[in-house]
Amino acid sequence: TRLYIPLDTSAVACGADDVAANLNQAGLDIEIIRTGSRGMAWLEPLIEVETDHGRIGYGPVDIADIESLITADFLKGGDHPLSIGVVDHFPWLKQQSRSMFAQCGTTDPLSLADYQAHGGFKALHIAQSMDASDIVEQVRLSGLRGRGGAAFPAGIKWNTVATTHSTRKFIVCNADEGDSGTFADRMILEGCPFTLIEGMMIAGLATGAREGYIYLRSEYPIARDILTCAIEIAEKAGILDDRFKLRVFMGAGAFICGEETSLLESLEGKRGQVRAKPPIPAIEGLYGHPTLVHNVLTLCAVPEIITEGGETYAQKGEGKSTGTMPFQLSGNIKHGGLIEVPFGSTLRTLIEGYGGGTLSGRPVKAVQIGGPLGAYLDERYFDLPLTYEAMAEIGAGIGHGGIVVFDDTADMVSLAKYAFEFCAIESCGKCTPCRIGSVRGKELMEQVQNGEKIESVIELVTDLLEVMEDGSLCAMGGMTPIPVKSALQHFPDDFRKPGQTAN
Ligand code: NAI
Ligand code: SF4
Repeated sequence: TRLYIPLDTSAVACGADDVAANLNQAGLDIEIIRTGSRGMAWLEPLIEVETDHGRIGYGPVDIADIESLITADFLKGGDHPLSIGVVDHFPWLKQQSRSMFAQCGTTDPLSLADYQAHGGFKALHIAQSMDASDIVEQVRLSGLRGRGGAAFPAGIKWNTVATTHSTRKFIVCNADEGDSGTFADRMILEGCPFTLIEGMMIAGLATGAREGYIYLRSEYPIARDILTCAIEIAEKAGILDDRFKLRVFMGAGAFICGEETSLLESLEGKRGQVRAKPPIPAIEGLYGHPTLVHNVLTLCAVPEIITEGGETYAQKGEGKSTGTMPFQLSGNIKHGGLIEVPFGSTLRTLIEGYGGGTLSGRPVKAVQIGGPLGAYLDERYFDLPLTYEAMAEIGAGIGHGGIVVFDDTADMVSLAKYAFEFCAIESCGKCTPCRIGSVRGKELMEQVQNGEKIESVIELVTDLLEVMEDGSLCAMGGMTPIPVKSALQHFPDDFRKPGQTAN
């Protein structure tokens, strides 16, 4: 009997390796295949058993459950309190529109045969028979926008790199996933790494780049091992060769190296400090050559766009927010994980529908959307469509799709202080509003916490936020005001009576 057990970091953190080892030693007639994760974090480790009726899932499995699973005849899909039935029919998964993550969690991430059996490398073959300008045109027609957070139209970026003349060009994948509450890049790298390889190769064909780098955050050792192996497999199979060379580069743990120009500095072996733009990397990037810098998810969307055609892709989503978005639900939430749905869904659907409300069972007070530099929203915004446009209208952003939930015990003054603290720790130090402003901001928040002259302190903070927003060189200092401002705007009571939250 075939068993599928994730090797994804979240599953391993919950004991998947121990469960796999114990099952292997249990004297059962089984073959264990390690897969990526389905993204149902609260069910990890989720083990799946192949039966005549489909794959039956059991989770979260602890080694202490193995005996009772055997007694329940789980290898034949037997009933057990941990059973979730046929995994593909499980409503949490079935209601999603998985395309980019369709294969994630279902197959061995390092099986080229599995990837190809599910349509893998079909897009690359199509692209190889197209003119470079037609590939760029398909990306433009798709309406794909950068999934790292800035949502810049990918087609324009591709066109800039493709039409800038140079002896060398690069494709750089930003896998320095630093936003708190995000894990989509890691999940696809660990669960389906060939998708990224294929997307980067197509980008190379379209722009004339023959070299690619994946800048991976140091906190992702499992992703590093899988990615490195996947590249070796693609090389051995003759898919990657001198026409397109791909390397993995490990970052050293600085949040600012996720900013594209710092990332390029770091790739060149220098200290990760932000470069002034212009010139934009698409014109002068790595070693001064035109460089297409994209987040993992942007590049992973490319195979689907080429296979389906840009116009078909553009029909998914809403308005200028086309395609699907893998939202990542975490924090105080019952059913956290990755939910891939078309743009236009709502926070209520994600938090109450998929998420099942808070883990604590208390009311939701705030949701931070778009990472540590994202806005804190309250329930009044839960029915707005999750599109770039609708979020921009309320001063928020979708960012990289991270949604962190807080219940009514959350103290918004502490969270606003945390935004400044985070900026102070992670600032590259190049410009004053960010380097000094973040420290001053933290001190001002401490004054609010101490109840010192709150009105005048808030006035000072408001001034400081304006200076940071207007005077910072990059999004780090420029966007730190967003969580602070939104906390002040949507939760004013917390600032008037600091420390008096529920609980
Ligand atoms: P940006 O708006 O300056 O640029 C977006 C992209 O478009 C860049 O690659 C830029 O080079 C390119 N671009 C801009 N104008 C162009 C043109 N005319 N032609 C071709 N390309 C052009 O935004 P930035 O500073 O790159 O990113 C900020 C975002 O990063 C924030 O919105 C935030 O959400 C996100 N972020 C994401 C994190 C993560 O872990 N994924 C962490 C921190 C921030
Ligand atoms: Fe560096 Fe902050 Fe200035 Fe960005 S805003 S360049 S992180 S000091």
